[in-house]
Amino acid sequence: MFNLFQITTEKELFNLLLYIFLLSSPIIAGALFIVGSPYGSQTSYSGKLALNGCLAWIVMELVSPAALLLAYTYPLTPGQFSQRTHTTDLFVILWVTHYINRALIYPLRQPSRKPMHVGIMLSACLFNLINGYLNGRWLSVFSPPPTTTTTNINNHALLNPILGVCLFLCGMLGNIYHDEILMRIRRNSQNTRYAVPLGGGFALLSCPHFLCELVEWMGFAVATGSPAAWAFVLSVACNLVPRAMFIHRWYQDKFDNYPNNRKAIIPFLL
Ligand SMILES: NC(=O)c1ccc[n+]([C@@H]2O[C@H](COP(=O)([O-])OP(=O)(O)OC[C@H]3O[C@@H](n4cnc5c(N)ncnc54)[C@H](OP(=O)(O)O)[C@@H]3O)[C@@H](O)[C@H]2O)c1
Repeated sequence: MFNLFQITTEKELFNLLLYIFLLSSPIIAGALFIVGSPYGSQTSYSGKLALNGCLAWIVMELVSPAALLLAYTYPLTPGQFSQRTHTTDLFVILWVTHYINRALIYPLRQPSRKPMHVGIMLSACLFNLINGYLNGRWLSVFSPPPTTTTTNINNHALLNPILGVCLFLCGMLGNIYHDEILMRIRRNSQNTRYAVPLGGGFALLSCPHFLCELVEWMGFAVATGSPAAWAFVLSVACNLVPRAMFIHRWYQDKFDNYPNNRKAIIPFLL
């Protein structure tokens, strides 16, 4: 364990941030269940502190790949050994690919986005900064060295990255596909901003795009075996599950004939 006031090494700082990250996620989930998830369809805020929704989204999401790349490539301090390999390079490429879509392609293709409160943008920036740092630094410095035994090749060492990358790619494609369904509604709408989405996972869920996002990051965590990536999965779940439940209830209130076989984020369950 570490003493909060006597952090002398980067490893201690890394561990402290990881603990904070892990502990804060359930607290944030509790807060979100109480106050709701205050952006997009779940808010009508348009006061002085409202930023252009598209611009705010780009800024907050760009922090994540920037922080990860910096943490991954930042020079090692004396005593640190680089754990970077072609495999960790691949994980970094996956991360950056996700965020090229999330931070640039996705918002720039969207027909419109509601304004966002500056506080939401700043808290997302802080979250993405810490998350990018933790994941980048774990991949480049704090992960255990690869096993060098040639006999009895560690099956997990091969299986987990392959399985994880497949999960990641399936989740990412599913997420983009369902985001696209929502964008199409907005593009084709005449007078209404919102309509009941149809097709793909929307047959069973109000927020299949969130479930796919969760699957994507679970894939990343399986592939890397990183505690930082698992902490990210927890925080994505703590953020998106309450949001999906609010959106689900909002659909039920707003649309009279909303299909009652749909769940919020887990088919047949939740
Ligand atoms: N990794 C994470 O922790 C995390 C966190 C948040 C989001 N994300 C990802 O970012 C993406 C967007 O998230 P989000 O929370 O903004 O999703 P969202 O609330 O479902 O909104 C997505 C977009 O679709 C529009 N929209 C939503 N429902 C609609 C409907 N019924 N009819 C027409 N348009 C509709 C929204 O417009 P308005 O803005 O006008 O409402 C918004 O532009 C998702 O893929 C999500 O997985 C990831």
